[in-house]
Amino acid sequence: MFDHSNRIPVHIQEMKGYVPGKTIEEVQKIYRPAMIAKLASNENRLGCSPRVREAVLESLSAVQNYPDPLSLELREELARRNGVDPASILVTAGSESAISILCRTFLQPLRVQSPDMQSLRVQSSDMQGRAEAVTAEATFVGFFVQAGVMNAKVTRVPMAEGYRFDGRAMLDAIRDETRMIYLANPNNPTGTYMPADEFRVWLEGIPDHVLIVVDEAYLEYATGVEDYPQAIEDLHSRPNMLLLRTFSKAYGLAGFRVGYVIGDPELIGQLAKVKLTFEPTAAAQAAALAALRDEAFLMQSLDLVRDARARFYAFLEHHDGVYVPSISNSVMMVFGSESEASTFTESMLREGVILRRLAAFGLPHCVRVTMGTPEEMAHFEDSYEKVMGELHSKAVSVAQLRGAQND
Ligand SMILES: Cc1ncc(COP(=O)(O)O)c(C=O)c1O
Repeated sequence: MFDHSNRIPVHIQEMKGYVPGKTIEEVQKIYRPAMIAKLASNENRLGCSPRVREAVLESLSAVQNYPDPLSLELREELARRNGVDPASILVTAGSESAISILCRTFLQPLRVQSPDMQSLRVQSSDMQGRAEAVTAEATFVGFFVQAGVMNAKVTRVPMAEGYRFDGRAMLDAIRDETRMIYLANPNNPTGTYMPADEFRVWLEGIPDHVLIVVDEAYLEYATGVEDYPQAIEDLHSRPNMLLLRTFSKAYGLAGFRVGYVIGDPELIGQLAKVKLTFEPTAAAQAAALAALRDEAFLMQSLDLVRDARARFYAFLEHHDGVYVPSISNSVMMVFGSESEASTFTESMLREGVILRRLAAFGLPHCVRVTMGTPEEMAHFEDSYEKVMGELHSKAVSVAQLRGAQND
């Protein structure tokens, strides 16, 4: 038998693998609910633009060929829309791949730490120490995983009140050894964001030797939020900043895996060497282009989320539920304890409502609800009332039993 124990680094062996939530098929098979609402993964519940189908079918005629490794057409379209040069853009297989590329490029173990970005040319013989990164405590787990693969030391700064970012504390956590600071804005899973005035102070406080990664996976949902920072405007003055974007959310292409990075062309050129040559696939590139050109669908997606959020807030307020106001496509519910959150999630699953409890995000007492179609939100509400009614009557009868025992 192959003994991997002394061939695979301990930090990989000790990592916990990704545990996926239950699929629609599994829930159907196990619980047989009348309806299923999958509100667990921040996907676009409206689907994707109908134009995507046509574009993808067309791309199939050349499926024997490798895809364009430079994603030229898509990059040009993205560059035009963002007012940057195509050389400032790297297209990747989803923003998770972009995060992986960044971690593999910047978080290699280093013995010599230089505060000067220019002198990152370190020989492999120097590779000993752990690279360091700073981020927030309750943020996208994908970053922790990819930094973990590199055995990087990640400082997770606690959130401020209301699950908001504590920009000042994040700046205070930066050391000479820090290579990267990661901010998901808007944040997942909290749905909160760092407003423009705080963002400017935060940005100015980050020294030039630190790579600034602003993950804008949920950027589109922030449309119309007046104090949401337009980080792209700061790119010219911060060549050490990169923005991450994705087609997985508002464009509804999570299954295709397309994302992109915007930043200084020199930096983008370095990252391009680390990217897998032929990611993303030709079908994915075609899908992204078609999705980008259908603005009406994008607007519909944003409207769906805005309406669902307003409805969700009103419903929870009516039922004294606690939630964190969000500018994203999900809303985080806060429970009194870990067990309450887990009982709620499991009971809802039995009704066919798939939610994400946030233990893996370090928030075991919280549950994230992706905003869905009116039918899905109605199913959430009916199930919530049923589940909470049952839990309440169970709690009352336990209390009565205890009371009777004490009498
Ligand atoms: C903040 C954030 N960044 C990145 C991603 C990964 O998205 P993608 O599908 O583009 O890999 C997610 C997915 O949930 C996310 O929440």
